[in-house]
Amino acid sequence: MAKIKIDPERRIGSVDRRIFGGFIEHLGRCIYGGVFEEGSSLSDSHGFRSDVLDAARTLRIPVLRWPGGNFVSGYHWTDGVGPVEQRPRRMDLAWHTEESNRFGTDEFIEYCRSLGTEPYICVNMGTGTMDEAQAWVEYCNGTGDTYWANLRRRYGHEEPYKVKYWGLGNEMYGRWQIGALSAEDYAKKAIEFAKVMKWTDPSIQLVGCGENGWSEWDRIVLEELSPFVDYHSLHIYTGSNDYYRNVFMPHQAERALNICQAMIDSVRYRKGIDHPIYVAYDEWNVWFRERGTESGLEERYTLADALAIAAFLNIFIRHCQTVRIANLAQLVNVIAPIFTNREGLFLQSIYHPLRLYAEHVQEAALDISVSSDTYDLREDKVASWPHSVTELELSRPYRVADLGPFKLLDVTATCDAHGHELMVAVVNRDRERDLATTIELVDAVATSGIVAYEVNGGDPSVVNSFEHPQSVDVRESRMDVDRERLDCFEYTFPAHSVTILRMQVG
Ligand code: AHR
Repeated sequence: MAKIKIDPERRIGSVDRRIFGGFIEHLGRCIYGGVFEEGSSLSDSHGFRSDVLDAARTLRIPVLRWPGGNFVSGYHWTDGVGPVEQRPRRMDLAWHTEESNRFGTDEFIEYCRSLGTEPYICVNMGTGTMDEAQAWVEYCNGTGDTYWANLRRRYGHEEPYKVKYWGLGNEMYGRWQIGALSAEDYAKKAIEFAKVMKWTDPSIQLVGCGENGWSEWDRIVLEELSPFVDYHSLHIYTGSNDYYRNVFMPHQAERALNICQAMIDSVRYRKGIDHPIYVAYDEWNVWFRERGTESGLEERYTLADALAIAAFLNIFIRHCQTVRIANLAQLVNVIAPIFTNREGLFLQSIYHPLRLYAEHVQEAALDISVSSDTYDLREDKVASWPHSVTELELSRPYRVADLGPFKLLDVTATCDAHGHELMVAVVNRDRERDLATTIELVDAVATSGIVAYEVNGGDPSVVNSFEHPQSVDVRESRMDVDRERLDCFEYTFPAHSVTILRMQVG
């Protein structure tokens, strides 16, 4: 029998709600045809798809990153402001397509307001200049009688946008990036961008461009850029056709965070840097099917992928001292939880854990103990590793430490500041077996019945679609606690499921 032991007094730290952030890029049908569809009967007066906005609102996204991604490294923001009909159509060399520029900075800010989220803008450090980045900050946040602030006013936006989060380039280490740089050259350039951006608005927070969290790039960039930034960005995409690899691969993020936190601590100590530096996991998701295809990255997500997403969220919660921002890549159509056509949308499997966590995760992450059977990918007989040789797998090879053994139950618990509301999130990665589990509360008792929300479906490979929008869905149930055993109860977590248990404790 598996066991979860929870002491509401043993706290790891506060969970930052910005881990539920999102990301929209000018890529495929994310912006045009997803977020923004002018002339559609489903769109509002701004051209924003209302059905998408409603579905996105339910995800309670606190911060939204834009405009890329790879796209930003060839994007000149001035193309996307001013009278729409006069904006230039440009070649987009990141995704080999065309950009109409009908959705630009003002539209993005309006979208953030409609969604109730904080904007996070990543600047162009590929073809973009320091001047351009400075001007973008001034256009958005300038309060003086200066050219770019006045341009914003001229375009009808009297009040500054107060954009707080600014990213210093996207994946500048990658050969796929327009204007890719060595770590040394990036750090040198980013310092100069950081200076003029901060001098334009000292209240902004800057995100330096990290890689995977354990690389030489990360080490060098942290070494040089740390005095100038508030966050170090990491990206991670996982996924495999093999069920067990798919559901366990997010644990790579655990290694990344351990190593990255150690590097941050080391550089801050040696350089006497007083301000904190946190990790912004500003792109993360399952993504492996639609790589190098012409599909516009329209990945269709299985139940197994939803389990991986919950595991990622558990990791961000466990590492709440390190990760303060995370942005799921992306929001609509492109590797996304929401999938549209011209007539409507459906919610992909991964939408459900995202929504449940955003709704139920409480302020404090708890240091719990879990014992369950384990699974070791090294003993996996399915096929030799790697399962499919993709560019990702070649560039970010798996290490022995990422092969397990992993607990089949992946668990986090959070409670409110007073320790009255308890939420336990459990991913049962066992493909076949329901796992009976004892849940023990230390120096606390459940004072209410327990509500369970379970994400599941007939088989780990099922996907939602327009025809079958609820193949993967959420089932809600209630369970009374035996009056005699308020501090200890049993729950059986079904095979291949994500379960959130909510209860009051005293
Ligand atoms: O999110 C899709 C792409 O993945 C982004 O454009 C890029 O930053 C990453 O490689």
